[in-house]
Amino acid sequence: MKTTSTILMLLLCMGCAQTTTPPQESTTTQTETAPATTPSTRSSDPEMDKFIDDLMAKMTLEEKIGQLNLVSVGFDVTGPVVSENVDENIRKGNVGGVFNTFTPIAVRKLQDMAMNNTRLKIPLIFGYDVIHGHRTIFPIPLGLASSWDLNAIERSARIAAEEATADGLNWVFSPMVDIARDPRWGRISEGAGEDPWLGSRVGEAMVRGYQGEDMKANNTVMACVKHFALYGAAEAGRDYNTVDMSLQRMYNEYLPPYKAAIDAGAGSVMSSFNEINGVPATGNKWLMTDLLRKQWGFDGFVVTDYTAINEMIPHGVGNEAEVAALALKAGVDMDMVGELFLKELGPMVKSGKVTEEEINTACRRVLEAKYKLGLFQDPYRYINDERAKSTMMKKEYVDASRDIARRSMVLLKNEKNALPLKQSGSIALIGPLARNQRDLIGNWSGAGDWKKAVSVEQGIRNVVGNKVKINYAKGANLTDDAQMIRRLNAHGGDLELDKRSSEAMIREAVQVARKSDVIVAVVGESQGMTGEAASRADITLPGQQLALLKALKATGKPLVIVLMNGRPLALAWEHENANAILETWFAGTEAGNAIADVLYGNYNPSGKLTVTFPVEVGQVPIYYNAKNTGRPYGGDELDKYKSRYMDVPNEPLYPFGYGLSYTTFSYSKPQLSATTLQGTQPLEVRVDVRNTGNYDGEEVVQLYVQDVVGSITRPVKELKGFQKIALKKGESKTVTFRISADDLKFYNNELQYVNEPGEYRVYVGTNSRDVQAASFRLQ
Ligand code: BGC
Repeated sequence: MKTTSTILMLLLCMGCAQTTTPPQESTTTQTETAPATTPSTRSSDPEMDKFIDDLMAKMTLEEKIGQLNLVSVGFDVTGPVVSENVDENIRKGNVGGVFNTFTPIAVRKLQDMAMNNTRLKIPLIFGYDVIHGHRTIFPIPLGLASSWDLNAIERSARIAAEEATADGLNWVFSPMVDIARDPRWGRISEGAGEDPWLGSRVGEAMVRGYQGEDMKANNTVMACVKHFALYGAAEAGRDYNTVDMSLQRMYNEYLPPYKAAIDAGAGSVMSSFNEINGVPATGNKWLMTDLLRKQWGFDGFVVTDYTAINEMIPHGVGNEAEVAALALKAGVDMDMVGELFLKELGPMVKSGKVTEEEINTACRRVLEAKYKLGLFQDPYRYINDERAKSTMMKKEYVDASRDIARRSMVLLKNEKNALPLKQSGSIALIGPLARNQRDLIGNWSGAGDWKKAVSVEQGIRNVVGNKVKINYAKGANLTDDAQMIRRLNAHGGDLELDKRSSEAMIREAVQVARKSDVIVAVVGESQGMTGEAASRADITLPGQQLALLKALKATGKPLVIVLMNGRPLALAWEHENANAILETWFAGTEAGNAIADVLYGNYNPSGKLTVTFPVEVGQVPIYYNAKNTGRPYGGDELDKYKSRYMDVPNEPLYPFGYGLSYTTFSYSKPQLSATTLQGTQPLEVRVDVRNTGNYDGEEVVQLYVQDVVGSITRPVKELKGFQKIALKKGESKTVTFRISADDLKFYNNELQYVNEPGEYRVYVGTNSRDVQAASFRLQ
């Protein structure tokens, strides 16, 4: 039951005037409320505090404000393109950090400007969007997560840090931990998918990989958790759009990955573009101070997203001066590109609208980051030409990229063992992505060289040599929309419109198919159709690709679809008609080799979806950890008054956690060590998994929990554990999970983190749908 004070508090929190949630009294067991301490200017490192106290005592107000300014400096192959203004600003001490510049030569040039010209010689920090690899490119983050292999994910971040630091960088704008349930949103490709628990584990692994044990080491970088917060919940999947969300949903379903990455020690956080319940995130004091710093104890610094302060003007919350003050007072420390801090804060201190103390707080946090990175000891510690030469794209890194690319691929269908392919005979290799290189490395791969990416055609040749005859036809353009191609190419794409009619292209492909044993159709999206500002309302295959597939199917030859895309696509026809479908995302530098490894059985696929694939876009948002309704649909067609669509099923095409293998696995019923869980003694859930097929393989054994009756409604299932195990043909293993009372906690209506006594169900299985259940009670 909600108390009156609770309702009042909720109303307050959900309006513009968001306040810290006061801890409430609880009638439930094992309550935890976050300490509401005031963030202090003292850290746990007295030496650092003393160093920064001394430095700040010498700084003028202008110099302090300068530290809050982050500039983007373009880059070309011969060195940095430094605009007059940036050059002059760095020399004047008006710049705290630079991003979009790398290579030792370019970074040294800029660092020299700060070290040789500014009064206090405060080094610059160098950031970049290192998102899924730096020079050696790994699968896009949604693909990385689909490996369910936290060691491999951490290793990808480690390698990215090795290469980025060898390029002079010390700060990466990653991990992106935004939970996303809407495949229309192009940036769903940049995160780990829809699940808060898995997203948390992936975020932690990436922070560990980037920051290592010691941020001062010359091969570690500072991570930046983004986009704080709730950016993935943009209405209608349209980028930058409004977010309006209950606090319960926020705390239980969207915030956990940010918190996990921060608890893992991430040194910085990036504010998001969106508003949250009426207040833009970048000017949201509740978010940036009350939640982030007071409740979660974050002691790093907050940078805005690109011009996010300025964007509060069209959001409608103030003019330039007002939005700059809003951001600073909210708890933002660094202004990315917008330069409103630089322009507005000085005059506002004079007019008394902002205090120098507020600027000191932000400045201290930026300086602390530089200190933690060891830049005051040696501003050039990340700049080393020798290391740059010996580090980039080392064989070991490229091999790791191939391995994780294979692990990230998800086998969506494999009728009558259409895959793996025989290493003999002929294939019709068809599709706009079959010879493609540019798209394979995805977007946010600015330092990656797509010309080094291995195409599918090349990968097949590498893996099977001359044993298989390849008959190629393009078959279709990725899109026939010339306008769209212009737009994509203006932002790093490399699309060429084949001028032949789509009928002629399809005709050629059909001829090629007819003379081959099997069709391998490599279709999907161009990388620029996903990522930032790349929302799509229609999530089917773009252009004439579906028409191509239909014509290929009509030849009667076995049809294997290799998909490349950065979001769940609506694939009803493909699922119905293809013999096999392999989801490969944008798999990175080694994409072609990795795909060929899977197609020809050198690697048995083991990836699982971390996001639900709908049958149709009209089902969106669709996600596995949903709530029940009071009228759940039970399958009776004539039972009208149920929660269902008249024209499409409620069920997705592929559920969360889904993915096939070339072998099969059987699961025993889960056995519980007890039927009640009490105190601190964890409950053990054991399940025997057997490899019942003809290949050695890996399986992601998944554990879900349902809190059957709660003080608020609870999801029908929530992932609480998984283990990725390898089983030889015929082998079986007992997998043991431990559930503790802590794993059952959630935020109740008073936003207390509690577990509640009562009945719980445990589900274990190969995906979120195909599970077996057992029950226990929490006492
Ligand atoms: C994106 C961020 C990115 C930043 C810097 C923004 O447009 O939203 O994810 O880190 O640019 O490039």
